[in-house]
Amino acid sequence: MKSKYHYLIGLSVLLMFSCKTDNPNKEKILSEEYYSGGVLGTVFDETPLAYEQPTPVVEEQGFAVAFKFGEALFEKEFNSNATGVRRGLGPVSVRSSCITCHPGYGHGKRMTRYNSHEYGNGYLLVVTDENDNYVSSLTGMPQTQSVYPFLPPIDESQIQINWLEHTDSYGNRFPDGETYSLIYPEVTIPRGAFNVPMPDYYKVRLEATIGIYGTGLIDAIDDDSIIAQYRREKSLGYFALNDAKYQSENFIVESDGTSHPGRYTYGLTRGTLQNGPGANAIWNITNVTRSNRAYNYITVAYAKEMAGNTFIQSELGKDSATIYAELMSTNLPAEMTDEDYVNFMVWHRGLAVPAARSMDDKAVQKGKENFKQAGCTVCHRPSWTTGADNYSGDNLVKNKLPRYPHQKIYPYTDLLQHKLDMVNGIRTGWCRTTPLWGRGLSEICTGASEHLHDMRARNYVEAIMWHSGDAATARDKFHKMSKEDRDALVKFLQSI
Ligand code: HEC
Ligand code: HEC
Repeated sequence: MKSKYHYLIGLSVLLMFSCKTDNPNKEKILSEEYYSGGVLGTVFDETPLAYEQPTPVVEEQGFAVAFKFGEALFEKEFNSNATGVRRGLGPVSVRSSCITCHPGYGHGKRMTRYNSHEYGNGYLLVVTDENDNYVSSLTGMPQTQSVYPFLPPIDESQIQINWLEHTDSYGNRFPDGETYSLIYPEVTIPRGAFNVPMPDYYKVRLEATIGIYGTGLIDAIDDDSIIAQYRREKSLGYFALNDAKYQSENFIVESDGTSHPGRYTYGLTRGTLQNGPGANAIWNITNVTRSNRAYNYITVAYAKEMAGNTFIQSELGKDSATIYAELMSTNLPAEMTDEDYVNFMVWHRGLAVPAARSMDDKAVQKGKENFKQAGCTVCHRPSWTTGADNYSGDNLVKNKLPRYPHQKIYPYTDLLQHKLDMVNGIRTGWCRTTPLWGRGLSEICTGASEHLHDMRARNYVEAIMWHSGDAATARDKFHKMSKEDRDALVKFLQSI
């Protein structure tokens, strides 16, 4: 939270106020679509810190100090010390801080190599077997870092990322002659880079980060609204949906025993923020234990390998059985306090969405119309209204987090999965429609503006032209547009 925030809010309120009083004929009250995160969740900020601001609720309801402490847990590195702040990194970790993968709180950058210490490398390695299941000797989010004398499950210096050219059915050309280029990653890791047993066949792909801002607003949408969206799209019959996800027996069970349909991550694997990607990452990315996660994020196969390693035994001065028991213990002391965890979750649920910009511009309005005409809005549903927002979560955070009841928000996603059928595409083929809000500020907030689940698209046009499968009709309509109409559509995307 930066002082600029107060200044900008102050300024925008002042501007609205002065327009209202000084010049009643030219009254310029911003239309609701400027408030991407609703009145309670939007910040008017176009600076490089636009993704990092607290919502008005954080200020008004006395969460400001907790937010600041929580922010540090996201931004700063954890270390392997046994005492002090942000301690407890390891024995193995994916990264030592969240922000390494979520630069400027946004999406990661496209990378040509895999270095887990490189700022902006938001890639997770997705290592799967012949049935497209995660390889069970590795964690779902495989680690490449370790604390001495342990070895990382994967030696990252041997990971190769190659970017290959792809030519689509249009020969990468619009009818007016303008061309575009499409590239996609192919990743290889030689067998010798693994410090755990591997199956005969394995495949490696990349999955990049999604923005963090606004996930608290998404959390405030009722489960029923998501199920209604699923039913609505189902009745349209345009395309297949991942029906199994909406059978209540497949809902995601939370630590408080309630169950919810998925709404976060490409894989829709998380149903609430309290058990969301962030709440999990603060434990499993760093392997920092807390009172309700008193165990390591490692596999049995890894613990066996390390416990059986004579060098590690001699360095630790412990026998194999002791090392194994310590690594697999479900009763480890908490490295993060409950108070820190609550602050972290206040920060997480307290992040605002930057307001939309230039919505009154003629080209932007035309672009909005084109977005609708092309059928983009079927999946990129413009707005949702949050519910009463009274899900309180597990005991640690119960009734301690900012709330956003009855807000009209503009994330531009249906929160459902679709099959876009890309060459070397995402695991399972199902991918949640990514929220488009705030993405126009990506360049200034994160230093990069790539798109799609592995950051293969270097701009909006490439992102749209990669839409295939169930989004092919929309892509074809975009392809047929005049240059002026395509530019207007992109300008609209940059403004929301
Ligand atoms: C290894 C890089 C990496 C690190 C470090 C990391 N994340 Fe992520 N994060 C990802 C990836 C990749 C995704 C998309 C995952 C998916 O769909 O499965 C993601 C998704 C998310 C999302 C979901 C957004 C949405 O719309 O569904 C949130 C929230 C999030 N991360 C928060 C955090 C927080 C908080 C931390 C630190 C505690 C963190 N992440 C650390 C890689 C990372
Ligand atoms: C059938 C559903 C569907 C339709 C129709 C659709 N999209 Fe998408 N869109 C998706 C999904 C799913 C993703 C995520 C794909 C991925 O990351 O691999 C996505 C991703 C995107 C992204 C990249 C988001 C990011 O930052 O990673 C953009 C931009 C986008 N869509 C724009 C459009 C536009 C413009 C149209 C209309 C021409 C459109 N989409 C039509 C489902 C759809």
